[in-house]
Amino acid sequence: MADTSCCKLHAIIFPLPYQGHINPFVNLAIKLASKGLTITFVHAEHIHHTLTKSNMDKETDLFSAVRKSGLDIRYSTITDGFPVEFDRPLHLDEYWRSLLNDFPARVDEFIGNMIGSADSPPVSVLIADSFFAWSPGIARKYDLLNVSFFTQPALVFTVGCHWDLVTQNGHFPVKGDNEEELKYVPGVDSISTKDLMSYFKEEEIETVVHKAVFAAFHEMNRADFVLHYTVQELESKTLDTLSKNQPTYAIGPVYSFTNRPETTRVAKSLRSELDCTKWLDSKPPGSVLYVSFGSVVQTSKQVIQEIAYGLLLSEVNFLWVAREDILKSGDSDIFPDGFQDEIKGKGLIVPWCDQIMVLSNRGVGGFVTHCGWNSTLESMWCGVPMICNPVAYDQPTNRKLVVEDLKIGINLSDGVSIHREEVAEKISGFMSGSASQGFRDQAEKVKKILHDALDNGGSSERNLDKFIYDLRAKIINL
Ligand code: UDX
Repeated sequence: MADTSCCKLHAIIFPLPYQGHINPFVNLAIKLASKGLTITFVHAEHIHHTLTKSNMDKETDLFSAVRKSGLDIRYSTITDGFPVEFDRPLHLDEYWRSLLNDFPARVDEFIGNMIGSADSPPVSVLIADSFFAWSPGIARKYDLLNVSFFTQPALVFTVGCHWDLVTQNGHFPVKGDNEEELKYVPGVDSISTKDLMSYFKEEEIETVVHKAVFAAFHEMNRADFVLHYTVQELESKTLDTLSKNQPTYAIGPVYSFTNRPETTRVAKSLRSELDCTKWLDSKPPGSVLYVSFGSVVQTSKQVIQEIAYGLLLSEVNFLWVAREDILKSGDSDIFPDGFQDEIKGKGLIVPWCDQIMVLSNRGVGGFVTHCGWNSTLESMWCGVPMICNPVAYDQPTNRKLVVEDLKIGINLSDGVSIHREEVAEKISGFMSGSASQGFRDQAEKVKKILHDALDNGGSSERNLDKFIYDLRAKIINL
């Protein structure tokens, strides 16, 4: 084995400017710094602005607290070309067009300046979100090793990277409700067209987000290393197959979610959190259903209404995170008239919470989720089984892992329409029916897999160490 201990690594880290990507990136930065790397973490300016506002943080440097504890993490911001108050979700196409076409030149200039600066130790590594298509090109220009961090399951990675194969087989774009099994995607026994990511569907292929995502998938196999935010034991066949093409490391979930002294000292939440502990503590163990659809997707008032009345009919206790922007219509009146009065005692509705604190509370026995990958991993980490209501992006594909592969959840509806009676029946059966204990037992098994992976000598820990070793070895041999 080569002696790789000599070389001090300095990595610049660029997360995608969304909650579901910021969380794993901050955790990764802290973890790598705790293993001796120098890190420069770069947030978009508007993200910095929102984080300081939501967390009432007076610090201009979000990482100052962890730096005081001895970690070498530097912090910087970059403009995306829009003013901080620009409403990016409202102007999604314009925003993403600019991220795709204009932002790479800003990153290029930023990195060029940093490399030329006397204040910065020599940079050797660029770690960027896999959905930034610019990273392999810019890394090569500056002779940096390119690390692509994929914050979703390996299943999504292999399907996305084999989009040309799916096209050759006549399954792209997916038309209407057409359901066919794909048995040729490397590393996947079988996946139905209905479980492919939403940007594989015909109605989405003209969108700018689709173009950005596909440009990124096209570039992912050019990365020197790929970090996967998943666990080896959960997706071993897929990961083994991917590792034949590229150095591949499953390092999820990077940090223990329930014992997080370092990571809680860095502002990550883009919204202010409400503490629900007192309310949850007042409920019997396992009796509360937690409901949340993550940080970005929107839905219709009709869907909210059917879930709301389904919950009432089921008579289950529930805690619902209803973001003020959850409705596609922009309406801020989210719930049916009188609903808030009808739920007194049984239900609590909040705009945002510390989700990991909620999921780890003994009161919680289930999670109605949109299947965002962070929510899915956090639920697994806490041993909470799921009721799945995927909306967009990777969520339908993540649902397949939860319901069909790992068997730690059920579907809320058939995915086409949703009715309160069916919702009530599903919820009652899930929380207290005959199959309920089976889901809880299975969720406990998956929880153990995640906890073991993060233990000393566990697969995620080993893979992260191997990644750092391989990085150093590659730099020494360049
Ligand atoms: C987006 C995409 O929708 C998802 O498919 C992709 O996998 C990641 O990016 P998002 O909607 O942000 O995801 O969901 P998710 O990945 O679950 O991330 C949400 C994060 O927000 C989680 O880490 C969760 O802990 C946090 N959260 C959510 C809170 O802290 N408080 C809340 O009230 C709700």
